[in-house]
Amino acid sequence: MNESSALNSPRKRIAVIPGDGIGKEVIPEAVKVLKAAAAVGGREVALTEFDWGADRYLRDGTTLPPDAVEMFHRDFDAIILGAMGDPRVPTNIHAADILLGLRFKLDLYVNARPCVLFDKRLTPLKDRTEKDVNFVVFRENTEGLYVGMGGFFKKGTPDEIATQEDVNSRKGVERIIRYAFDFARRYGKKRLCMSDKSNALAFGHDLWQRVFKQVRTEYPEITATHQYIDNLLMQMVRDPSQFDVIVTSNLLGDIASDLGAALAGGLGLAPSGNIHPGLVSLFEPVHGSAPDIAGKNIANPMGAVLAAGMMFAYLGWTAEAQAIQDAVRAAVREGKTPAELGGSLGTRAIGDWLADAVSKSGVPHSA
Ligand SMILES: NC(=O)c1ccc[n+]([C@@H]2O[C@H](COP(=O)([O-])OP(=O)(O)OC[C@H]3O[C@@H](n4cnc5c(N)ncnc54)[C@H](O)[C@@H]3O)[C@@H](O)[C@H]2O)c1
Repeated sequence: MNESSALNSPRKRIAVIPGDGIGKEVIPEAVKVLKAAAAVGGREVALTEFDWGADRYLRDGTTLPPDAVEMFHRDFDAIILGAMGDPRVPTNIHAADILLGLRFKLDLYVNARPCVLFDKRLTPLKDRTEKDVNFVVFRENTEGLYVGMGGFFKKGTPDEIATQEDVNSRKGVERIIRYAFDFARRYGKKRLCMSDKSNALAFGHDLWQRVFKQVRTEYPEITATHQYIDNLLMQMVRDPSQFDVIVTSNLLGDIASDLGAALAGGLGLAPSGNIHPGLVSLFEPVHGSAPDIAGKNIANPMGAVLAAGMMFAYLGWTAEAQAIQDAVRAAVREGKTPAELGGSLGTRAIGDWLADAVSKSGVPHSA
């Protein structure tokens, strides 16, 4: 995903936000691996860490500082984030402010979630192999049911009513659909499936239908199909090999991409990108802060490491990105994994192994 035409400097400025729970364990491992990949490719990274998360919020009330968006646009090329969420903040207000704040205020309208199976032993599907699970879900990331429009009427009474608005703009729908088609064209993907619930959501998803039918005429080489979301989820389980690129709305993409992650080996291995092409973008593992296992050195850092790989690909460092992905694939195949994937290595040992594998990968020196 080398779209950073405005970011052509050889030195990349990366903001590091570990966040809460296992975010604070997996991000140091991702940083270890990305430093190794940058070094082996002769690249320069400038890392700046931010302590935003529950500890900081509980200490001084800081969530997303008012100047954060301007600062990221001015001073950074990309952001890597661990996870937000802490049982000591039951409202999750800091997480919503920071995560949704960054997604909305940086206008990161593409949520990219690759679902790639590295080893057939990891999929819960019977008789499926690596070639069957290899697709990407593009989820609209700034609209839909996540904009927070709605309200309560007669809250707390037996007559209570709650509304939640599903916001779909022509601009918002068109840019995510177009992004998915452009991605398919750029990477030679032959099939694109748009998914919605237009049979029931006759206004918002009618817009998705009309935009999709218009945009697909510009990409005649790509086989563009449509599936209602209920059918899509069933088809992903029945035969995931029929998908290369899936594009859908915010809520539906949230659900479909978690299913995709499960098909590809689970949450611990799933990376994601929150992207505005050409502008500062944010990369993170799909999993949350996992308070149940935090601080035990057993979290799988591979999702965070793969997110760092996606970030490098976005920044145009494709050989280094490939080296990171190859190292994770090798670790999975050689059983250099945490307990959740059947291995016995701790979080830090996996980071060490991956950094070492990347250092030995022989990425051609960029200089
Ligand atoms: N993007 C984010 O920051 C994000 C995403 C999801 C959830 N959350 C937050 O995280 C907190 C916990 O949420 P949850 O429990 O629903 O989801 P979770 O992803 O944190 O955990 C779900 C389950 O998967 C396991 N798990 C997750 N990541 C793992 C890893 N890397 N290695 C091994 N096991 C792993 C956990 O131990 C847990 O049993 C909540 O506060 C939630 O709001 C944040």
